[in-house]
Amino acid sequence: MSNEWTKKTFTLNTGAKIPAVGLGTWQSKPNEVREAVKAALLAGYRHIDTALAYGNEAEVGLGIKDSGVPREEIWITTKLDNPWHKRVEEGITSSLKDLQTDYVDLYLMHWPSSTDPDDLKKHYPDWNFVDTWRELQKLPASGRVKNIGVSNFAIKNLEILLKDESCKTVPAVNQVELHPNNPSPKLIDYCKEKGIHCTAYSCLGSTNSPLAHDEALKKIAESKGKSTAQVLLMWGLQRGTSVIPKSVTASRIEGNFQLDGWSLTDDEMKTLSSRPDRFKVCGDAWLPVKVFFGDDE
Ligand SMILES: NC(=O)c1ccc[n+]([C@@H]2O[C@H](COP(=O)([O-])OP(=O)(O)OC[C@H]3O[C@@H](n4cnc5c(N)ncnc54)[C@H](OP(=O)(O)O)[C@@H]3O)[C@@H](O)[C@H]2O)c1
Repeated sequence: MSNEWTKKTFTLNTGAKIPAVGLGTWQSKPNEVREAVKAALLAGYRHIDTALAYGNEAEVGLGIKDSGVPREEIWITTKLDNPWHKRVEEGITSSLKDLQTDYVDLYLMHWPSSTDPDDLKKHYPDWNFVDTWRELQKLPASGRVKNIGVSNFAIKNLEILLKDESCKTVPAVNQVELHPNNPSPKLIDYCKEKGIHCTAYSCLGSTNSPLAHDEALKKIAESKGKSTAQVLLMWGLQRGTSVIPKSVTASRIEGNFQLDGWSLTDDEMKTLSSRPDRFKVCGDAWLPVKVFFGDDE
């Protein structure tokens, strides 16, 4: 296994290569995220994860410009927001404009929820994620989107999507919540079998992470002279998932990228994969439709 993780990429089912480590930007305020993106790119990151729903694409675009790193060296992922499922063209046009770029490397359906923009508590009666995917499949031909994928798709919804006759493109990526308290081994195995790469979001356990108090994690980190965040990222990488830690703190952005030249042992991996507690940062109670079914492990 290569241990130059900051240079490593995962090859998608399209042949494209997604950098293993990226910067997350959810909850990064507009006035903070421009600096964070610039700092990350200067520290060597080449993968930035954003979304229309984060309301910060314009600042992310400015941070990219500020860094001076050429566009073609950077992998940009953004996402179609739920109330835009019937407006895929408008959604991508808005994202590209705000990001000040001609293309994104990866465009994800953010959630399998086609929410009525006039009433966010309602799901469209005549449209669902299969219809949205049909529209997303048209985008790569234009060159404005290099790869398409999904996010927050459980096995049940992936089955529905892949079995539909309108599904001609297997999603390149499923971006899902993955950390030791939500390891989802069945979902990862299912995606692997179907040729879908998984990106781990909330890979540190997100804001005020309960994982910060995990004694087994702390013990492993101390014994290796690493931070708990670095150990969590290494756990994600060694499972074959890309990781997109979010930070707006320069020292953490740098520390989260110090992942070369060391690794976790099989025993350490096993310990982290068998934490007794479970929690999910992003549930589905806020959506008009259930998207998680407890079938991921
Ligand atoms: N597809 C989806 O539905 C979805 C959902 C959630 C997230 N995501 C993506 O995944 C990214 C990551 O997930 P996330 O933002 O939920 O959480 P995360 O990356 O797991 O954790 C972020 C939190 O950890 C802190 N942190 C970062 N590095 C640290 C370090 N070295 N030591 C201590 N604390 C540290 C950050 O604080 P500071 O920023 O204050 O430094 C922030 O509070 C998001 O930003 C977003 O891009 C996608």
